[in-house]
Amino acid sequence: MAKPKIYLTHPLQLECMRFLEEHSELEYNRDTRLLESSELAAGIQGKQGLYNLSSVIGAEVMDSNPGLKVIANFGVGYNHIDVAAATARGIAVTNTPGVLTNTTADIAWVLLMDVARRVSEGDRWVRARNWVDWHPNLFIGADITGATLGLVGLGRIGKAVLRRAKGFDMKVLYWNRTRLSKADEAELGIQYADQDALYRQSDFVSLHVALNEGTRHLMGERQLSLMKPTAFLINTTRGPVVDEKALVKALQEKRIAGAGLDVFEREPNLESELYEMENVVIPPHIGSATVGTRLKMGMMAARNCIAGCLGERPPNIVNPEIYD
Ligand code: GLV
Repeated sequence: MAKPKIYLTHPLQLECMRFLEEHSELEYNRDTRLLESSELAAGIQGKQGLYNLSSVIGAEVMDSNPGLKVIANFGVGYNHIDVAAATARGIAVTNTPGVLTNTTADIAWVLLMDVARRVSEGDRWVRARNWVDWHPNLFIGADITGATLGLVGLGRIGKAVLRRAKGFDMKVLYWNRTRLSKADEAELGIQYADQDALYRQSDFVSLHVALNEGTRHLMGERQLSLMKPTAFLINTTRGPVVDEKALVKALQEKRIAGAGLDVFEREPNLESELYEMENVVIPPHIGSATVGTRLKMGMMAARNCIAGCLGERPPNIVNPEIYD
């Protein structure tokens, strides 16, 4: 049987490249930039599979090759792919759920602890040769142990963040589209709160909702104004869940104490004020970036892509209705 033809938008780890090269006729873009629609369209000519990292894929890309069968996304979030358009054309869209849950929950904690205890800020200060003496008020931060954590969204990653909070004796509030049963709440040791109450009471608000039209700018000026001036916002989901301009304003006016952000509204560009603020921690969207997790994501997306090319139902399909 002829091997499926796949276009890959970025180079991957060696093991994934070998796997793809063994099981497909692979063509790939050699650099790491996001590709324009015209480049994607050129890349997928004659291919059944598109293996995509984060490039935006709209209907025009899909229409450039009626033979395209699958768009395999490297990542759990797929808001950059027009899934409705893919479904309408019978193209499978897949993602990589589950394998990055713990790694992403870890980064939420890294951000929470870093911004609360001012580690990156202190690191910058030491490197700038500012440290001449030690005194009791040096880089005073906020307590984590015993504080109240508000989880907005309690899916896989939200629950993994919750498990870690237990080690810090935190009171945990949550809001989720569907509320858990009383028994589950009791077992997990968490309290349901509506969003406004959660913002008012939490010392740390951590966002774990997927990005969709209902959650775009979920955290806006009004919500930020409800937070305590001593509270921190943590975002590891998708940038547009937060109104970044409103966040900058809240930080400038000291209406909240700080933010730990792995994701931004217009990556790789940030609201310019954020670059200058000491009380924000801003890594470059590295939530799932560990050797082991990236390998699992890479292999999962590769298997999804190959299955989709062969006309099999991929294991991690996000639009299963195409098979109805
Ligand atoms: C990363 O951001 C992902 O969606 O997996």
